[in-house]
Formats: sequence, structure tokens, C-alpha cells
Amino acid sequence: EKGTYTHYMLKEIDEQPFVIRNILQKYQDDHNEIKLSDDIRSALNSADRLYIIAAGTSYHAGLVGKEIMEKAAGKPVEVHIASEFLYNQPLLSQNPLFIFISQSGETADSRGVLVNVKEAGHPALTITNVPGSTLSREADFTLHTYAGPEIAVASTKAYTAQMAVLSILAMDGAHARGIDTDFDAIHELSIAANAMEVLCDQKDNMEQIARDYLLESRNAFFIGRSFDYHVVQEGALKLKEISYIQAEGFAGGELKHGTIALIEEGTPVIALATQENVNLNIRGNLQEVVARGANPCVVSMEGSHRDTDQVVLPPVHSYLAPLVSVVPLQLISYYAALHRGCDVDKPRNLAKSVTVE
Ligand code: F6R
Repeated sequence: EKGTYTHYMLKEIDEQPFVIRNILQKYQDDHNEIKLSDDIRSALNSADRLYIIAAGTSYHAGLVGKEIMEKAAGKPVEVHIASEFLYNQPLLSQNPLFIFISQSGETADSRGVLVNVKEAGHPALTITNVPGSTLSREADFTLHTYAGPEIAVASTKAYTAQMAVLSILAMDGAHARGIDTDFDAIHELSIAANAMEVLCDQKDNMEQIARDYLLESRNAFFIGRSFDYHVVQEGALKLKEISYIQAEGFAGGELKHGTIALIEEGTPVIALATQENVNLNIRGNLQEVVARGANPCVVSMEGSHRDTDQVVLPPVHSYLAPLVSVVPLQLISYYAALHRGCDVDKPRNLAKSVTVE
């Protein structure tokens, strides 16, 4: 139930820190070791390459999951849009493991791929919020995201939960392969959960940003690099699906290769600058758009922030910055939709689970 909340979406955004803590509990045993069935562990470790298949927001979680898996565990990962993979399958490795990421577990495009994958005899793992769902039943293995029912059409807590589970898998994979990683997913996730809570408490700031940047805008650009690039794609999707503002997430370095032509006086440009190693680069990209009249809004992280930044995240591990930086983007989208008079929980033309191709 919504309780005192005006919308499910706002409630579900606020639940995110608790969902992460819940996942931490569910995925740890009594000795604080990662709890994973031997079958799943061996499927993950015997695969020479992981193929993540998903749609929409779950695809965006997969993009982040790939980064963490490759960087922490040294395991090659490809991420594919289900509807593309279905009719344009890339070359596969010798021993692939397919990972389906789906909040509902019912997405028809993903199911289509799963059917083909099983026919070809490849193993499949589903990461889902609904364990009894089709994708869960038809895959060999299931991992639960434990986010609780997600009612709002726009996915929020399922996305952060998916990334949290993927980061735990990455750390487990690193241990299994004897890789000496300094990434302690368990410890870092609990820090991230606290940081998410700090941002959930900054609703007035996010509402003001929505008013200042988005109430009169027909379009908005989101830019980021590295991990932030994946999160701006998700930020743009959130904004367009509930506020109907045309929004796109770009890699900061790509702007000058075309998109910068669209920048006009007052165009809102929301930049994520949480990644230390590309901080100067994204700041440079911001200067380029500001010189052409853009109205910049910067979400950065303590340590490499500037006094003029609109949102500053508490410090978290760079791999988990997406879990935290998406919170202000979700809230800004929520308030933009609310004040533009949109039906936040039930945006036009959209269904919660897309069970037709
Ligand atoms: C966006 C959104 C959709 C879903 C997509 C996949 O907020 O909710 O993009 O993420 O339809 O759905 P699942 O994860 O249920 O397979």
C-alpha cells in the first residue's frame, strides 16, 4: 500500500536503502560469507563469457553489472537488448552463460531469447524480482532481487536491486577465481545504502531542480562518462517515460561529434560527475555546452565536487556510484512529472510488464 505517499514511485524510491540492506542480509550466511548455491557458483565460474539479456531499465542495470564484473572479477561480459539479440544474434563464445535480468520475469523479448538459448543447450540464470515468473521457471537458475513488489510503471528500486545483486556476483566471482580485488561488495553496498538515504532526504533540493530546469523545457540532455554514462541513459529514460520531456543520455565525449548542435540558449544539461578518473573530462564537456548557452545541473561526488554543483553525493565506491547517483535523477524526474501534471505512476502508452513482442 502507498500509505502516506502520494505515489508509488516516490515510496519505491524511498525504499531503496532498505532494499539494499535486505539484499545484504539475504546474500550473506552466518559467517558473513556470500551465500550462493554451488550450482550457480559453478555455472558462473565455468562460463568463459557472460551474456546479459534485458530490456529498458533492466538493460541499463546490466550495463553497470558488466563494468563491475569485468573490473572486479576479470570476467568478460556482453550486454544485449533482448529484442535485438532475438533477431540478430552475435557470435557466441565456447561456454556462454546467459543472464536474464528482469524485474517482472515476464518480458516477452527476453523470454524469446531464453527459449532459443535453452534450445541451443546453453545454461541460463534469471535475476528477477518475481521468482515464480516465466523467466525464472524456464531458466536453470534464479537469483531473487528482494525489492518487494514494484507497482509504479517506472522502475526504480528494482534497478538498484539488480545492480546490487550483480555487484555481489562480481565479488563472489573474483574470490572464486582467486583474484585479489579490493572491492568488498558487502561493505561498499552498506555504505551506498546510507548514501542513498542521505539523497532521499534531499527531496526539496530535487524538487527545486525540477522546477528550475524542467518545467518549461521540451527537451533535456544527460551526459556522463564511464559508469556515469550508463546512469545518464537510465536518468533520461526515467524523465521521458513519466514527464514526456524528450531526453537523451550521452557519453560526454560524443557531444562534439554531433549532438552539441542541438544545444540552444537555456537547454537543460544534467551532468553526472561521480567518477574521479574522468572528472576533468566531463567538466570540460560541460564547459563546451555552457559556452553554447546550456543550463547546467551537475551531480557529483564529495572529493571531486565543485562548490557550484547542484547535488553532491556522499563518497561511495566508484563501482557503486550508479546506485546512489540514480536517486537524484529518479527524484528530479518524479517532481518534473508531478509539476507538469502527468500521471506519475501510470504514464501514457506504457504497461508495467511487456508480455508481447
Ligand atoms: C522503465 C521500465 C521498463 C522495464 C522494461 C523491462 O522504467 O520499467 O523499461 O525496465 O520493460 O522490464 P522487466 O525488467 O520486467 O523485464
